[in-house]
Amino acid sequence: MNCKLISREKSLQLPSAVKHACHAMLYAPSDEKLFSHIPVKYAVLMQMRFDGQLGFPGGFVDLSDRTLEEGLKRELSEELDYTLDFAESDHMYCHIWEEPIHLVTHFYTKRLTLAELRAVEAAAVQGKEFGLETMGLVRVPLFFLHDGKGGLPSFLCNNFIGNARSQLVDALKSLGIVKEEQLKSALKSSSR
Ligand code: GTP
Ligand code: MN
Ligand code: MN
Ligand code: MN
Ligand code: MN
Ligand code: MN
Repeated sequence: MNCKLISREKSLQLPSAVKHACHAMLYAPSDEKLFSHIPVKYAVLMQMRFDGQLGFPGGFVDLSDRTLEEGLKRELSEELDYTLDFAESDHMYCHIWEEPIHLVTHFYTKRLTLAELRAVEAAAVQGKEFGLETMGLVRVPLFFLHDGKGGLPSFLCNNFIGNARSQLVDALKSLGIVKEEQLKSALKSSSR
């Protein structure tokens, strides 16, 4: 993956020809249990994109947006038909890309309640981009089935846009959603 970490501050000082895109991982603690015994722990949302790859909701910040966070809010309302406010403190990190275009991808995480997250899921099918740019939200399975593959390891074998796969793994780690040991083993058993 051809991208480098850059600070938010530095990224905002780049020439205006450099585009910015903002995407967000929405998540909520959940006490639901799969098959009545496997704790789901958290509901974490990604989406299937028009190009067949998994990514996070969000998109390019444009001239109508005064801030990165307003751009993210607009993109989520287009893609999910749901209004969520973001603060600078929801910004996790950002990367700069040289190829194929000069782009900075900003990544945010936002904790919701399970009821709010369910409302996002219900609204998303009404969004103007549903069935077009966005083919639906998916929840990320965070558990490990007994075969050592089912659940998170299999999920990580999907195709992801840009560095969305690392964004997911880094967020699960830094938010303490999945233990580091477990993430390591999921990454190992999903390596192709
Ligand atoms: P258009 O309005 O059709 O351009 O789509 P958009 O504004 O919704 O943009 P999109 O979500 O496709 O994101 C813009 C660019 O950011 C994409 O071309 C990808 O290169 C990149 N991108 C998209 N999703 C993700 C993601 O989840 N993570 C990362 N790191 N990059 C992404
Ligand atoms: Mn069943
Ligand atoms: Mn969009
Ligand atoms: Mn998008
Ligand atoms: Mn857009
Ligand atoms: Mn668009």
